[in-house]
Amino acid sequence: LDVDRLDDLVPDLAERRTLACGPAGLLDALAAHHERAGLELVTEQFRTERIEPGDGGTVAFADGTLLELDGATSILDAAEEAGVLMPSGCRMGICMGCVLPMRAGAVRDLRNGQITAVVPGDGAIKVQTCINAAAGACHLDH
Ligand code: FES
Repeated sequence: LDVDRLDDLVPDLAERRTLACGPAGLLDALAAHHERAGLELVTEQFRTERIEPGDGGTVAFADGTLLELDGATSILDAAEEAGVLMPSGCRMGICMGCVLPMRAGAVRDLRNGQITAVVPGDGAIKVQTCINAAAGACHLDH
């Protein structure tokens, strides 16, 4: 879809509601177009936009696998790249299909930089591996 041709392709666009799903470039172009035109736009992304990388860290799995991960790659993507079979679903923070218990350590939400950490003595907490990167040494029960 060439957004520059949108007004020609949909002459009654101003009378319609626009729902868009696609790659970031298309959604950015549509957002700029609709803002200029004063039109409503509802979007859904293929992948979560990642804006808050951290320093990364190590992730230890229950089987003894130990991975050194950067702070800009989700634990899910990095673990799969290393050959670890990981649960997943939407891969963008919605379905909870990638949730794993974290017994120790901290992770950083790549969407907003928020740190989630296990408080010693409180037991495991559940983390979404598709939107979190390692933030230090963590242990996942998987
Ligand atoms: S895979 Fe859906 S929330 Fe992570």
